[in-house]
Amino acid sequence: MPDDITRLSKKAAKIILSFPKSTRIRIISHYDADGITAAAIMSQALHRAGYNFHTTLMRNPFIRGLERVKKEGNELIIFTDMGSGQIEFIEQMSCKTIIIDHHQYLKEKTTSDVLQINANLCGVNGNYEACGATLIYSIAKALDPKNIDLVSLAMAGATGDKQYIGGLRGYNKTVLDEGLKNGFLKQETSLKLSGESLFDALYYAVDPYYSGISGNKKGVQELLEQLKLDKELKVEDLSSEQRKQLNSTLMFILIKKGCEKNILDTVIRNRYQSESLGCELECFADLLDSCGKGGNRGLGLSVCIGDKKAFEEAQNLEKDYKQDILDELIRLEKEGFEKKTSFKYFYSKESSLGGVIGGVAINFILGREKPLLSLVIKDGELHVSCRGNQYLVSRGLDLAFAMKEAARQLDGNGGGHAIASGATIDVEHEEKFLKLVDEIICKQLKM
Ligand code: C5P
Ligand code: ZN
Repeated sequence: MPDDITRLSKKAAKIILSFPKSTRIRIISHYDADGITAAAIMSQALHRAGYNFHTTLMRNPFIRGLERVKKEGNELIIFTDMGSGQIEFIEQMSCKTIIIDHHQYLKEKTTSDVLQINANLCGVNGNYEACGATLIYSIAKALDPKNIDLVSLAMAGATGDKQYIGGLRGYNKTVLDEGLKNGFLKQETSLKLSGESLFDALYYAVDPYYSGISGNKKGVQELLEQLKLDKELKVEDLSSEQRKQLNSTLMFILIKKGCEKNILDTVIRNRYQSESLGCELECFADLLDSCGKGGNRGLGLSVCIGDKKAFEEAQNLEKDYKQDILDELIRLEKEGFEKKTSFKYFYSKESSLGGVIGGVAINFILGREKPLLSLVIKDGELHVSCRGNQYLVSRGLDLAFAMKEAARQLDGNGGGHAIASGATIDVEHEEKFLKLVDEIICKQLKM
């Protein structure tokens, strides 16, 4: 019931406003596009309300970062797009805290210092119907209705978490309609093509990944010759006939690769152009993800706040980030994946990229029958990212449970969503971990 979100948002706003304006409020958020937009909305809302703030974007395992935050002597901490999974540690911080999250929660009741707003506890499905940014947007509006102009950031967050798959719905749809009705967002139906030239748009296409085209200069050149298109042509200068032809060719590549119907449905779909962000929302979310996962977290926040220079810098860095991902995807497509009974897996170099590569590979390279794990070994730890699809979830797959349970048995930590989750364990347990995960997923999928 979105009713609860509204009521709890008012409660959160009341807590915030009970602090004097001299308070420096601490914001801790997740480092992906949803986390960055959530943090940016909260930061702007606090700034407009006259508060000082200090924002940090964190990644798993969160505990290390939280240990540092605990020592800071904060008066009020606001966790955005995270917190429910770390609630036990947070409760011990003995600080007034507001958690706004849409990931799986560990417990419903909290100590009196902690207000937890979790979509799943408000009758809203946190996997598909609300994200960190749309929830924070509700609090921003409770602080001041004028914050409605932050709606583009909210929907960019939902887009970053891929909550458009299967159609935007639930609380996200309420927010989207508000953005459209008030003229902050414009709807168009199209395929994602972004870049300085048509060549760039095709070469740097990561998600969707067009086999033989993405990251393949020769492939792009041949495609453009075949379609009689100039490589320097700008995307916006394509005629509608040229666009139609290009769309069908690209869709055909995905169909040939065995891409699932609900993923195909997301390729050409309703997209939303935001004037204030100067960008289509998925392209904006991609840009933020490349900032967060490419090691430039602060830059992502600056981009959200409307810093034009930061936007340009981020666009340049995005190319290097995409090149790294494309190199890995091309390698995997050539060399193949390792296998267990219930899942496939591969080793990757950088833990923040493992999940991204896995997410693209499961949708555009592998068939739909098995989830995919990426493994990264760093400083004696094994960082695992896993990705499934809606078909597997409908058959009983719950990757959050699989990661949480297998990691728990080996003194590690894990969690996330049924369709996308992760874990961190001691590297010496790698074999045992893979065996445990295999057993759990076999049971879930009745294999
Ligand atoms: O890192 P990655 O993008 O693969 O994470 C996917 C999901 O799994 C995220 O929602 C993240 O919060 C969760 N996760 C977790 N514990 C970990 C690693 C990831 O809960 N140790
Ligand atoms: Zn999120």
